[in-house]
Amino acid sequence: MNVLVTGGAGFIGSHVVRFLLEDGYQVKVVDNLSRGNKESVDSRAELIVADINNSKKVKEALKGVDAVIHMAGLIVVPESVKDPIKYCENNVIGAVSLIESMRKAGVKKIIFSSSACVYGTPDKLPIKEDAPVRPDNPYGASKASIETFLQTYNVIHGFDSIILRYFNPYGPGEEHVPETHAIPNFIKATLAKKPIPLYWQGEQIRDFIYIEDLARAHIDVLDQKGYQVFNIGTEKGIKVKDVISEIFKIVGYEVPIKDLGERLGDVHANFASSEKLKKAVGWRPKVELKDGLKRTVDYYES
Ligand SMILES: NC(=O)c1ccc[n+]([C@@H]2O[C@H](COP(=O)([O-])OP(=O)(O)OC[C@H]3O[C@@H](n4cnc5c(N)ncnc54)[C@H](O)[C@@H]3O)[C@@H](O)[C@H]2O)c1
Repeated sequence: MNVLVTGGAGFIGSHVVRFLLEDGYQVKVVDNLSRGNKESVDSRAELIVADINNSKKVKEALKGVDAVIHMAGLIVVPESVKDPIKYCENNVIGAVSLIESMRKAGVKKIIFSSSACVYGTPDKLPIKEDAPVRPDNPYGASKASIETFLQTYNVIHGFDSIILRYFNPYGPGEEHVPETHAIPNFIKATLAKKPIPLYWQGEQIRDFIYIEDLARAHIDVLDQKGYQVFNIGTEKGIKVKDVISEIFKIVGYEVPIKDLGERLGDVHANFASSEKLKKAVGWRPKVELKDGLKRTVDYYES
């Protein structure tokens, strides 16, 4: 099977590419390198440097492809609040341009990287896939819009549109610029022996999913059909301050906490029900938080 991974030069995409190659898939990557690194792409994959909005290059890249894993996108929530049009053009128009190219090329299977952001503030925990979709930032709105287009393409063009809503991925290789995610920032501050900036005194609850468990799920769902939505999380809500304590245990020392008070718009708690994915494909998260954190600390240390 030939798989095209958009955004394959990014944090999550580069892991998914490696897992695909290890399982014997032929892999092409389309990435405009606006945020990713070409060094992150496994040399066994073919890298095509192109924007997903560039229909000519995408058409060429789709030759011989059976399925697309669509991970390309801008991911910075505060940036999306400042510049929603950029998020609409890059993420939403980009995705529609991609799926139009797929339709014309006769490629009708897509796995899409969505986000728990689409739920906004949940009414109930754990969050199930049928919870209301009401994103509270433009990044989340871009994900919800793409999901809707993919549902429409399932209805009118018979696409197999598989939506994966990630909770909080972390692990080796996370090199976002800017980095807005908690775990890499906590580890980098700790290793640099600098204070850790912390909102809400770390009382927020999140569902941290190790990158390899997340990456494996993409391969597990490749033969799913129709329009389907799956959460990917560990189903365990962890307080952010407990993550920091675990990092301190791993390194064997502590750094001060810089209290940033409350931050408007933060969801207090979210964690997933991943029952649906478990039942559909037998997927299970395997890496416990303390092991995943140890591997991640080792990565940043080296
Ligand atoms: N990292 C997370 O915490 C998280 C959580 C939920 C969902 N997601 C989604 O997972 C996907 C991958 O996230 P990531 O953390 O690896 O991000 P990343 O920024 O590391 O990777 C995204 C990649 O997409 C590329 N890209 C962006 N716009 C493009 C375009 N128009 N054309 C071609 N390439 C383009 C970038 O160059 C980058 O390599 C994204 O769609 C993101 O929204 C990520």
